[in-house]
Amino acid sequence: MAGRLEEARRHTLRLIEPLTEEQLNRVYDPILSPLIWDLGHIANFEELWLVQRIGGREPLRGDLGELYDAIEQPRKIRGELPILKADEVCPYMEQVRERTLEVLGGIELDPENPLLADGFVYEMLLAHEHQHNETMLQLLQMVESYEPVEVDRGPASEPASEGDEMVLVEGGPHEIGATVVGFAYDNERPRHRVELEPFWIDRTPVTNADYMAYLEEAGAEPPMYWERDGEGGWVRTAMGRKEEVDPRLPVIHVSWHEADAFARWAGKRLPTEAEWEAAAQGADRKRANLDEMSFGPAAAGAYADAASECGAVQMLGDVWEWTSSDFTAYPGFEAFPYPEYSEVFFGDEHKVLRGGAWATRRDVIRTSFRNWDLPIRRQIFAGIRCARDESEGAQES
Ligand SMILES: [Fe+2]
Repeated sequence: MAGRLEEARRHTLRLIEPLTEEQLNRVYDPILSPLIWDLGHIANFEELWLVQRIGGREPLRGDLGELYDAIEQPRKIRGELPILKADEVCPYMEQVRERTLEVLGGIELDPENPLLADGFVYEMLLAHEHQHNETMLQLLQMVESYEPVEVDRGPASEPASEGDEMVLVEGGPHEIGATVVGFAYDNERPRHRVELEPFWIDRTPVTNADYMAYLEEAGAEPPMYWERDGEGGWVRTAMGRKEEVDPRLPVIHVSWHEADAFARWAGKRLPTEAEWEAAAQGADRKRANLDEMSFGPAAAGAYADAASECGAVQMLGDVWEWTSSDFTAYPGFEAFPYPEYSEVFFGDEHKVLRGGAWATRRDVIRTSFRNWDLPIRRQIFAGIRCARDESEGAQES
């Protein structure tokens, strides 16, 4: 576990390594925290759950808890808080980690304690740091001339496969959600059975080429980070670079409203999250563009050797996929370990996204993993995969 915590921290620090102090402290967008807040919050969360809750120790600085409370402090005000600045935050992260390892060394994983059974709290801590990496990457898209320390070119060179536009998923009972074994969040449980009508689902995520055709015909707004190139084409401007939009790649940085409108334009619809999970059955996260270092999606149709059981590719990795579903509780849901993780977000305000993106750490993602966001959001690494009722046929549109 100490090794995994160390690895998670290495990733976090690698992301911020190229940045100046000014860039770390700067508020780029009211919907994203300054990176310096994320760093302090990652360490403070670790201190709260491990050092204080499990280790029974006093915090290093009692006033920090409130400043780094994600519910108490909405993103738009985080830049004005008296939080730890660049020269203070790294020593704090190190001091907390030192104490974490002391606690870790002296603890038994008591199966009777739900926080400790199967190492739950450690897994939660790891997942938390991993998930903050993805939010940090959202902000890094806005940092002009950000140069990653390292880029994994593997996913970009994965060959795209040819195949049918849509694949069929059998109707009938499907098991949805996480089993009782292994780490999962409260909102993924309990596992339960749903009855699905047979449906078609796109074999690959929707491509930039598809989306450009849609923009041309429907006159809709382009995705975030797209600009006209002056000759009728499009360029991408993320991280301050201007690159021609690659038609082979999955479209990314679209809102739920845009995804929904695209699907209707294509004569299709977004899948429900239960449909998505049924279609993802058998997908392998080890053969997927995940883990942050590719800095972009692989071509649509890549990883065909790791298709899910129904024949869909890239269900995991590359781009998050918007579903038509609101983020709600599964039948028999119980909040654990705290209602602020998921329960307070249940309702009709947030839409569910599935599958993870290139910016998601591999260990975070499972076919049962549920992400959620407001339907207007586009800074997240979200794309589209459409579905259609079986009765409507697969190919005509
Ligand atoms: Fe957090």
